[in-house]
Amino acid sequence: MTSWPTTLQSAAELLRTGYLVAFPTETVYGLGADATNPAAVARIFEAKQRPTFDPLIVHVAKLAQVESVVSQFPETARLLATEFWPGPLTLVLPKRDIIPDLVTAGLSGVGIRIPRHPVAIELLKAAGCPVAAPSANPFGGISPTTAQHVADGLGSSVDCIVDGGPCAVGLESTVLSLMTERPVLLRHGGCPLEDIERLIGPVEIARSDPSRDDAAQPAPGMLSRHYAPATRLIVIPHQQLAEPIAGLRCGLLTAGKQPFSGRFVRIETLSDDGNLQTCAANFFAAMRTLDASDLDVIIGHEFPPHGLGVALNDRLRRAAH
Ligand code: TXA
Ligand code: MG
Repeated sequence: MTSWPTTLQSAAELLRTGYLVAFPTETVYGLGADATNPAAVARIFEAKQRPTFDPLIVHVAKLAQVESVVSQFPETARLLATEFWPGPLTLVLPKRDIIPDLVTAGLSGVGIRIPRHPVAIELLKAAGCPVAAPSANPFGGISPTTAQHVADGLGSSVDCIVDGGPCAVGLESTVLSLMTERPVLLRHGGCPLEDIERLIGPVEIARSDPSRDDAAQPAPGMLSRHYAPATRLIVIPHQQLAEPIAGLRCGLLTAGKQPFSGRFVRIETLSDDGNLQTCAANFFAAMRTLDASDLDVIIGHEFPPHGLGVALNDRLRRAAH
C-alpha cells in the first residue's frame, strides 16, 4: 500500500495507527513510525533490513514534547537546543519508559531531534506522537534526498511517501551523546563540530574500533561500510590531480575547483565554486547518478577538512570501504 502523493492529515493518521510513513526532513528522508509502538518500530527494521543493534532517532515537533521522551535535559542540552533546533543535530539523552527498548537497541539513551523541514514539522504536529525514523533507504545503502530515491530503494515496503522536494542539507544529522559528563560526538553530520564546540567547549570524538565487531562499536552508525554505492569507490586527497584508470570506465565525484585530467565517462561536480553547503545538498544524489552509470570505478575527491567538509569526508570514506 504505497500512496504517493498524500495529504499530511492522512499520513499523520497512518503514523498514529502503526503504519510506516516516509517523510522529508532537511537532512535526508526518514522512514517514520510511532516511536511508542513496538510493533510499528519493528516494521522499520524489517523494511530496511536493518540489524536491531542499530538504534533509531526519535523526531518531535517542539521542545515541550522532548520531556515526554527523555528523563533528563541538562543545561548543555538546553544551550544546544536553543541554538540548533529545529535543525540537523541529534542529542542522545536518558530515555523514558514510553520509548521501547527496540528504538534504542537496548541502550539507556535515546537520540532525539526536532527537524527543520516545514513538512516534517507539520506532519509531526498532526501525528502528535514522537516518530522514530532512520534514513529511508535499505540498510547500508545511499541515503535518500528525494521522494523518488525512497520509492526506488524501499518500494512497497513503505505504506506512504510524503513528497517535500529535495532535502536542503543533504547529509544526516550530527549525533552528540550527552550521556556522560563530557559530550561525545558519535557521528559527524549537518551541524558542524566547530559550531557545537564554539557553544559548549571541547567535545570528545568517538572513534570506531576496527578490531571490534559492528555491534560493539560506540555508535552503530560507525560501521565502516555504510552510505555505499554498489560501484567501487576510490578516494583521493583534496587538490590531488584526478585521472581515470586506464582500461576502466571511470566516473568522477568532485566538489568543483578540483584538478582533473583525462576522459571520465561521467563527472559529477557538486558545486561550481566548491561551496560546501551546495556540495552536501547534492552529494547523495550525485553518488546515485554515478552508481547508475555503469562504471567500473568512481573516483571521489576529498573535501576540505572543515565545516561540512568533515561530514562529507566521513560519508565518502565509508562509501569507499
Ligand atoms: O538526519 C538524520 O539523522 C536522519 C533523519 C531522518 O532524521 N536519520 C538518520 O537515521 O540518519 P539513521 O538511523 O540512518 O542513523 C541514526 C544513527 C544510528 O545509526 C546511530 O549511530 C545513532 O544515530 N543513534 C541513534 N540513536 C542512538 C542512541 N540511542 N545511542 C547512540 N547512537 C544513536
Ligand atoms: Mg542511515
